Amino acid sequence: MLRLKKDFFSIADRKGWINMNVIVSKTYEEMCQKAARLIAAQLTLKPDSVLGLATGSTPIGIYQELICKYQEDRLDFSKVTTVNLDEYVGISEDNEQSYRYFMNHNLFDHVNIPKKYTYVPNGSTDRIEEECEDYEQLIEQLGGVDLQLLGIGGNGHIGFNEPCGEFPEYTHLVDLKQETIEANSRFFSSMDEVPKQAVTMGIGTIMQAKKVVLVANGVGKAKAIYDTLFGPVTPNVPASILRFHPDVTVFVDEEAFSMVAQKH
Ligand code: PGA
Repeated sequence: MLRLKKDFFSIADRKGWINMNVIVSKTYEEMCQKAARLIAAQLTLKPDSVLGLATGSTPIGIYQELICKYQEDRLDFSKVTTVNLDEYVGISEDNEQSYRYFMNHNLFDHVNIPKKYTYVPNGSTDRIEEECEDYEQLIEQLGGVDLQLLGIGGNGHIGFNEPCGEFPEYTHLVDLKQETIEANSRFFSSMDEVPKQAVTMGIGTIMQAKKVVLVANGVGKAKAIYDTLFGPVTPNVPASILRFHPDVTVFVDEEAFSMVAQKH
């Protein structure tokens, strides 16, 4: 069932197994404010939440909003634990392009979260397989992820789960697609430096999160958002699996929503 209003609609089934709310904002800033409010509400309801976090340019504005709320004394991260979705392989933590560095720089250094409760997969170990298993175990020991924040790739990837023949279940090593390597190259000084592999939570790992928040802005995401919401559920569009998750909120700006708006 689809209910379309101006800036909000939901996709739900009668039994409540599927429940996806889509919130459309005019601008990136407005989208970030709304998404940050949902995360803040999560921390108000459960101060010791396990947050699954994402890197990329999309969540930066959300992290800035969260930092502001913390500085204004409206948010407390002291009991929060975080687990990040993914990390490049072959890049050490102190490399400015690593996702650990990104998270420290864009969020952790600016709020009162104890660093020892912030987890990012280790992509610089030569024991990648064990690292993947350990990361799954860690999430389980933490009692699972309460709220997972996700960006989306132009090709529909979530985390670094690239389009492929099947949904990968657990945290695993992945060869990045050429289009992803090219998209990531904007942060590196040469193409040769862009990592070709990453460690990522699997689709199964992501689907086990109790609540999922997907964010997307810009026209470059319009097709991925359309396919996620209305295309077939297929590992060729990894985010499409979210239609089977019981608690998803999608925050988009009007550009990312433009293909849906045109066709519906
Ligand atoms: P972006 O990346 O936020 O930099 O667009 C999102 C993603 O690839 O998951």
